[in-house]
Order: sequence, then structure tokens, then C-alpha cells
Amino acid sequence: MGSIVDWPEPVVYVQSLSESGTLVVPDQYIKPPPDRPTTWLTDMNIPVIDMTGLISSREETMKQVFEACREWGFMQLVNHGVKTELLDGARDIWQEFFHAPMEVKKKYANSPKTYEGFGSRLGVEKGATLDWSDYYYLNYHPNCHTKWPAHPPHLRDIMEEYSKEILRLGEVLLKVFSINLGLEEDCLQNAFGGKHIGACLRANFYPKCPQPDLTLGLSSHSDPGGMTFLLPDKRVTGLQVRKDDQWITVKPVHNAIILNIGDQLQVLSNAKYKSVEHRVVVNPNEERVSLAYFYNPRNEMLIQPISELVTSESPALYPPMIFEEYRRFIRTKGPQGKLQVESLKSTR
Ligand code: OGA
Ligand code: NI
Repeated sequence: MGSIVDWPEPVVYVQSLSESGTLVVPDQYIKPPPDRPTTWLTDMNIPVIDMTGLISSREETMKQVFEACREWGFMQLVNHGVKTELLDGARDIWQEFFHAPMEVKKKYANSPKTYEGFGSRLGVEKGATLDWSDYYYLNYHPNCHTKWPAHPPHLRDIMEEYSKEILRLGEVLLKVFSINLGLEEDCLQNAFGGKHIGACLRANFYPKCPQPDLTLGLSSHSDPGGMTFLLPDKRVTGLQVRKDDQWITVKPVHNAIILNIGDQLQVLSNAKYKSVEHRVVVNPNEERVSLAYFYNPRNEMLIQPISELVTSESPALYPPMIFEEYRRFIRTKGPQGKLQVESLKSTR
């Protein structure tokens, strides 16, 4: 695969469209009818995991985590130890960034080569249907040329502190995930590259949308990396998770951090854990901000089912693949349902 150099069409920021006051969604954002949003009347919600239970009622909590990884691929973490002020500070600072004048933000315009910076498009296929969102993408690790915005001034300090907390949580969760698979507790962390994992952040901004029934804020996709810590908007829902044939709207619990399994954990666990499709719906009256922190294997890691999990009854479902190559494939295609990890199977 050659390297991706630039966007196939000039980038249009959705925020500019939204602020123009248009009453119609332009054609390029209109999804085919089967992909348009639906609302299911259901009380179902993704499982809530109280992390203090890992100490006070360990067996029970470990079991809840296992079920969440297997049945949902999603959970909401509460009592995770990250301070409320830091969560609020992180959300607010990105809100402030997205409300800065367009000329300021455009200084950070990104390209599909690394995706770092301010952008709107995911994927480089000309004429593709686009999503109703803008974003800012940052690499934490490796951090050779991290493109921090200079405005607002405290953004970098806050987001570095936030990253430390998520890395701490990530190590705890990978231990729990390993033990639940009957593996040594540092097995998954080592498979990710030990201390030198990959980590990046996408701050998502979903502007108000005049015709939310025709489009999506983020098309259905599974996350290509290891696992994702999502800090959802405090007031506005929008994330939907696929459960069997339904789309369940996530109702965030106060101060929760949402965690989902990515494709690489599905591969490493030989599909014991599920990387589940999700998407974002938008609405006419409220904008929404979310922070997706991707806790990934290091780029050069060769990812394949952990050998202890491969037996004659449960053969390896995926061929080995270097994480960076897998990611390049996704970055070319943009968000596309479950096709990605499942298509690896057919290459065997
Ligand atoms: C993502 C994602 C969900 C959201 O960024 O990969 O799924 O609620 N975001 O913004
Ligand atoms: Ni996602």
C-alpha cells in the first residue's frame, strides 16, 4: 500500500456548514436509508463497572468485566479515580478550542498522512459519504511531532495530565482482561509493547444538524486499535452501540468513562472479546463534544491470537498482522462497519 498524501477533495468543516444556518444537509452527508439513525425504545444500557469492586468484591467484579468484554465489547467505568475537575477541565478546554475562530483552527489543518491536527474527514475515498463532525487528532506516543494547539493556553497541561490518568487505568484494565482469559497478568500489556504502547486522542466535535434523520455524526465502525477510553459529553447523548440487531443509545452515568474493546484485543483474545460496532447520531438543538483516547499496541507490534488461547478446538481465527499496516488500511477506507477485522479472516 502506498502512502496517503492528501485529501481527495477540499476539506469542508461541518461547523462552518452548521453555522451558515443552512436548513438542509448537503448531499455528501446524506446516508443511504438503511444506514440512517433509528431509535429503539429500550431501557437497555451498557454494563456499569464500579472499579472499587476490583478490591472490595473482586470475584464478582472480574466476572462483570468478563461478561462486558464478551457480550457487549463496551462498559462504563465509575469510581475510576480520575478527578471530576480533570474530566470537566478536559471537556471544557476542547469545547473552547472548537469555538475559537476558524482562522485559528485552520492553522492546524491535518492531512491523511498522520491525521494529526484539525480535520473533518476520515478516509480518502473520493465521493465517499461524509460524517457530520469535525475533530482534532493528537499523538501522545510515539510523540516525535505532536501537534498541540497553542490555544487555549492550558490545553496541553490538562491533556497531559489526563493522559497520565488514562495510561494508569489502561494498565489496570489490561491486567484484568489478561487474568480473565486465564493468562499471566502482564500478557496483554506485553503484547501491546510493554511500557511503550501507542496512544492517541481524537477530540470529536458534533455541530448542530438541521436534518439529523438523514446523516450520522460518525458512521458505524469498530475501533481499529487496542481499546478506547471515551469521555462522553456531559449533557448530550449520541453514542449508539450495536447489540444483536438493535442500536442501543448509551446513557452515560455521572462521571463515567466509557471503555470499549478495539479490533486488536479481539484478535489477541482470538475473538473471546468483541470489538463491537458503534456510531454517533446528531441532533438539531445541541452540539456535542467527546474525547476518544485510543490505547493501542506500539506501531511495530505483530498482533495475532495469544498462543495459549489457540488450541485444536479453537484454532487461530486471524492471521498475524503488524498494527501499523492494519491501521493504514483503515485510514484509507474510513469508518466502515465491521468489515475490517472480519476481512482478515478471509485472507487465510
Ligand atoms: C470514536 C467514537 C464516539 C463518540 O471516536 O471512535 O466512537 O461518542 N466516538 O464520540
Ligand atoms: Ni469509535
